[in-house]
Amino acid sequence: MPVDFNRPLPVGRELEYIAEALQSGHISGDGPFTMKCHAFLENALGVPKALLTTSCTHALDMAAILLGIQPGDEVIIPDFTFVSTVNAFVLRGARPVFVDIRPDTLNLDECRIEAAITGRTRVVVPVHYAGVGCEMDVIMDIAQRHGLAVVEDNAHGLFGKYKGRYLGTFGRMAAQSFHETKNFSSGEGGALLINDASLVERAEIVREKGTNRSRFFRGQVDKYTWVDIGSSYLPSDILAAYLYAQLEQRERIQAHRQNAWKTYETGLKDWAAGKDVRLPTIPPDCEQSYHMFYLLMPDLDTRQRLIAHLGGRGIHSVFHYLPLHLSDMGRSFGGRAGDCPVTERVSDQLVRLPFHNLLTGDEQEQVIEAILEFEF
Ligand SMILES: Cc1ncc(COP(=O)(O)O)c(C=O)c1O
Repeated sequence: MPVDFNRPLPVGRELEYIAEALQSGHISGDGPFTMKCHAFLENALGVPKALLTTSCTHALDMAAILLGIQPGDEVIIPDFTFVSTVNAFVLRGARPVFVDIRPDTLNLDECRIEAAITGRTRVVVPVHYAGVGCEMDVIMDIAQRHGLAVVEDNAHGLFGKYKGRYLGTFGRMAAQSFHETKNFSSGEGGALLINDASLVERAEIVREKGTNRSRFFRGQVDKYTWVDIGSSYLPSDILAAYLYAQLEQRERIQAHRQNAWKTYETGLKDWAAGKDVRLPTIPPDCEQSYHMFYLLMPDLDTRQRLIAHLGGRGIHSVFHYLPLHLSDMGRSFGGRAGDCPVTERVSDQLVRLPFHNLLTGDEQEQVIEAILEFEF
């Protein structure tokens, strides 16, 4: 039987809620299900404001607009991340400064941040890779001392914690993803978490095409008009209905993923120790979100052969992120081979195993068995 890398199917009342949204007569943005998702996220995380967006990419775009990023500003980005983390700021004219990652958690290496700060630096964007928290105490301290904003890219980390506090609640803002590969999904979707209450009013405007329509709907103004730059960042309530059904299953989804993660760890740890393969590192200060399970193989050749070996048995595994500084865009900003050696190495070594909300014990057994049979 083939084993999918991801299987984004309903896990609860998704279809029922979508039918309800369709029958409600409100299928554009900010309908009843969007409000339920906002309230859910605000209550669960204790954030002052959560706004659903059409993607994490768009939540990051909004963050860059809200911080007033200007051409020539610099932004500190981990080299090992998705393009959206950096694009949001480059779209506003900023210059990305790529900083290498820690070899253990694969998160932004907090010890390298200060050396990358110049008089033009405005923002640091920690990415909680695999939903394992960055060293937020150190990062927040550096940001405060240098007057920098922190925007957390928490695409992977909903409900993960660092020192007992939810990821996404440290920076001035944080971006969540509800893409179909994430723990909670609406196919495509995201949210902007706003921890700095002074940004909320403008965030609503930017999200509503630069108009004060949200205030109009609340009866706070008698007509709405163009007041700022912005775009259409709010999802249809049909998508919010799907997402709300997933969020409602928080406990079940997270328990399933925790169990699946531990099954891989238990099944593979002795093998890994004997083969120079590394499993994910979870520091004691971090409660991870159980977003993914990956292996770090000894080198590119072994990684590629393992992916092919698993593929030959119908098991779909994937690599992740090429070093941003070596992409065409990264090179145009001056990136050169050797700038971020940890990212360059890890990007060759990493393989993600099938991991999703409906993964079964039998499927995991197949994956583990196939890995144990892999010849180096
Ligand atoms: C770290 C990170 N940030 C942002 C994104 C973009 O998310 P979305 O597809 O919701 O725009 C991704 C995508 O997986 C990601 O891995």
